[in-house]
Amino acid sequence: MTMHRFLRQLLLAWFLVVMTSINVFAQAPPESKEFEPVVGQEGKDVVWVPTPQALADKMLNLAKVTPQDYVIDLGSGDGRIVITAAKRGARAHGIEYNPDMVELSKRLAAKEGVAEKATFAKADLFESDFSMATVITMFLLPEINLRLRPAILNLKPGTRIASNSFNMGDWIADQTVEVTRAEGCDSYCTAYLWIVPAKVEGRWKLPQGELVLKQTYQMISGDLNAGAGRISISDGRLSGDQISFKIGNSQYTGRVTGGAMGGTFTSDKGTANWSANRVSN
Ligand SMILES: C[S@@+](CC[C@H](N)C(=O)[O-])C[C@H]1O[C@@H](n2cnc3c(N)ncnc32)[C@H](O)[C@@H]1O
Repeated sequence: MTMHRFLRQLLLAWFLVVMTSINVFAQAPPESKEFEPVVGQEGKDVVWVPTPQALADKMLNLAKVTPQDYVIDLGSGDGRIVITAAKRGARAHGIEYNPDMVELSKRLAAKEGVAEKATFAKADLFESDFSMATVITMFLLPEINLRLRPAILNLKPGTRIASNSFNMGDWIADQTVEVTRAEGCDSYCTAYLWIVPAKVEGRWKLPQGELVLKQTYQMISGDLNAGAGRISISDGRLSGDQISFKIGNSQYTGRVTGGAMGGTFTSDKGTANWSANRVSN
């Protein structure tokens, strides 16, 4: 073999090695596997267990979600409650600590055609502002519900809170509903609803005297101190900003707006208007 031929073959061999290695590196990387959540996987404060769809529907029914609502799910998992609310026309937002779950939720929302109405944030629910919500949904734990309770009670009166399976301690739910196996729910099948009550505890001036109210969440008790003496009120209750109570045989209903409240009362003599102004807390 001449030197010239030897050099040509060496060059060809080098060329083949280079081309092969380029080809190897130029191949598409192995397809990255999409994240798949596993029931029971770790979460920051609560593991992930999805709300059964039948219960998610029931929670949104209980909260009477309409397109006017802004629904926030605290710990939104795979986004199913947010997506379900968005499909009803509401704006809905999920707060979720696990970034993979957030990305999964975004993909699912896009697939369902509600990416504009269903938004998600990777955040800690304890460091998030949810005061804009008209409806809060959650599937957390009893002790977490209790940690959230003071902030929830400070939300705008009338905000609806729907919880899967876990209650709020001594703040008794306004409504509790079970979804049966026949309706498509095998576990975690209880939905609770609370309506954030207006704050009315304190002294109020009525034309006929002073009304002194005590409040335990949505329940109210108290006395009317009138010229003729003191009469206890009964059946006192709040539903958001709607108030109702009885003084003797008179049934009072009305609306609370900050330092004023009023409405109508019905007695043996018929129906008339009433109003009261706050004197002190
Ligand atoms: C029981 S799952 C409920 C998921 C979803 N809300 C549902 O009902 O299908 C609770 C979710 O809360 C999330 N989570 C736990 N601690 C959190 C925190 N501090 N901030 C935000 N999300 C949290 C978990 O990652 C999990 O996805």
